[in-house]
Amino acid sequence: MRPIGIFDSGIGGLTVARAIHDLLPEESILYFGDTAHLPYGEKSPVLIRRYSSRIAKHLVDSGCKAIVVACNSASSNALEAIKAAVGPSIPVVDMVTPMVSYIYSKNPESRVGLIGTRATISSGVYEIGFAGVSDAITLLSRATPLLASAIEEGFYNDSIPRAVLEAYLSDDFFTDIDSIILGCTHYPLVRKEVKTLLSSNVEVIDSPSIIAGELKNQLIKHQLLEDNSQTVEHHFQVSDLTENFRKSAQYFFGEDLKLEEVSL
Ligand code: DGL
Repeated sequence: MRPIGIFDSGIGGLTVARAIHDLLPEESILYFGDTAHLPYGEKSPVLIRRYSSRIAKHLVDSGCKAIVVACNSASSNALEAIKAAVGPSIPVVDMVTPMVSYIYSKNPESRVGLIGTRATISSGVYEIGFAGVSDAITLLSRATPLLASAIEEGFYNDSIPRAVLEAYLSDDFFTDIDSIILGCTHYPLVRKEVKTLLSSNVEVIDSPSIIAGELKNQLIKHQLLEDNSQTVEHHFQVSDLTENFRKSAQYFFGEDLKLEEVSL
């Protein structure tokens, strides 16, 4: 049975892997965390493209039938390179396109906040996406570079991400927004903390479930949806196996993991 290939720089993409597993329990997953090269958010587009296309090719060579780029920094800077690396027959789901469609379909005239890594924010990819669908969506975006590192280090549900978020969110920059995109796959791990810092009517968008929904649509479209759960098997690979990743991966995926180190 051919798995879904999912990759990120580290543990962040596990938020997406979890949502995919919840929505499509009969699908197997091959996850790759590029822990040897994180953080992607501080890398140049050239380097992000090089790492991402190498991983995408590795996943397809390992038999994956579809690729999920579970990293906003890679989705923003390397999508075309990834598609070129895997070829036209493999569906590729990125983090940005489904979010733009979701927000546009919910409210084509709205004020949207975006937080993400430097690489994501400086790519301007969300601005380009919204400009392509509506001229009545105002995007307010801010890079929040400390946040992913704090989460990667295992700080969630505690005062450290709260203090970091306060530093980034407690001025008036995001006043009057209708929704906010957590534009980094690490951030759903501090979604609750983001919620408490913003006004209660701001939708803190649940991106992993939207991405999982888009993957399902793509699998149906390409007639790749699995309907037999007998042979489900998940594999988790990292480019540098650390105890920290092992613990976090276990915690976030919520199941026993087969973790192996693979250098590309
Ligand atoms: N999870 C990655 C993203 O969504 C960022 C973490 C990193 O900087 O490596 O952008």
